[in-house]
Amino acid sequence: MNEMVDQAKLSTDTAEAVAVPNGVFAQEVLEVEHYTDRLFRFRITRPDAFRFRSGEFVMIGLPGPKPVWRAYSVASPSWDDTVEFYSIKVPDGPLTSELQKIQPGHTLWMRKKPTGTLVVDALLPGKRLWMFSTGTGIAPFASLIRDPEVYEKFDQVILTHTCRDVAELAYGEHLVNEVKNHEFLGELAEGKLTLFNSVTRDPSFPRQGRITDLMASGELFEQLGVPPINPEDDRGMICGSMAMLKDTKAALEGFGLEEGSNAKPNTFVVERAFVG
Ligand code: A2P
Repeated sequence: MNEMVDQAKLSTDTAEAVAVPNGVFAQEVLEVEHYTDRLFRFRITRPDAFRFRSGEFVMIGLPGPKPVWRAYSVASPSWDDTVEFYSIKVPDGPLTSELQKIQPGHTLWMRKKPTGTLVVDALLPGKRLWMFSTGTGIAPFASLIRDPEVYEKFDQVILTHTCRDVAELAYGEHLVNEVKNHEFLGELAEGKLTLFNSVTRDPSFPRQGRITDLMASGELFEQLGVPPINPEDDRGMICGSMAMLKDTKAALEGFGLEEGSNAKPNTFVVERAFVG
């Protein structure tokens, strides 16, 4: 472990000698928290010039002569003065195998231009906003549920988070509690924000099953006490693995919703930045 950390520090120190490329911010890592051996979260300083809409993503990489860039949803809201990310650790992943070793004081590179489709502007007005996530797909919603605009535009906000096991649910549970107890957001989210989480490979949690199955069986709606999804009232956002995006999109289309984009807002949106 120590050896790994020392190597990471060394590579970061060496890399700091490399000039920061055009269009890239070099930021300091402020905080790192590991949830499981698969998931962690980190925060970096925010440059004044970095503007984004809650729900968007940006490319990040470690300093070096040939940086590996990956799309990461910004998990912090657009009003925050630091930038937070939530990441999986892929054992042989070209970026995450190194990224998971970062520590406060290290430098992270972030491209200057954020983008993405999981933004309130890409949805038509509605009553109820559904945010469907699996694993680290919760990251853009961590940003959105901390944005007052979401509570101004919707009467009800339902965040679904499905993971393999209970330990992976911790980030989402912590977040929602943080919003509910927050000085200002707490009041806005009061009676509006609900977390609906489930696991698929851990019998110790009361709620079991993939979100697609819970939708198909109607359990999702029964347990929440809401009517089945319909195009008049409901709006959806989806973020997860390629297979999850495909199946959840099909489920929403089955309820009559249609995919939208920044250019053409509609009743649901999908983030495809993390796949393929
Ligand atoms: P499962 O354990 O049945 O595969 P991962 O960590 O592999 O991205 O998975 C995160 C969660 O997403 C798991 O609970 C997983 O369930 C679920 N999942 C995987 N594929 C799909 C899919 N096609 N539709 C809905 N949920 C899925």
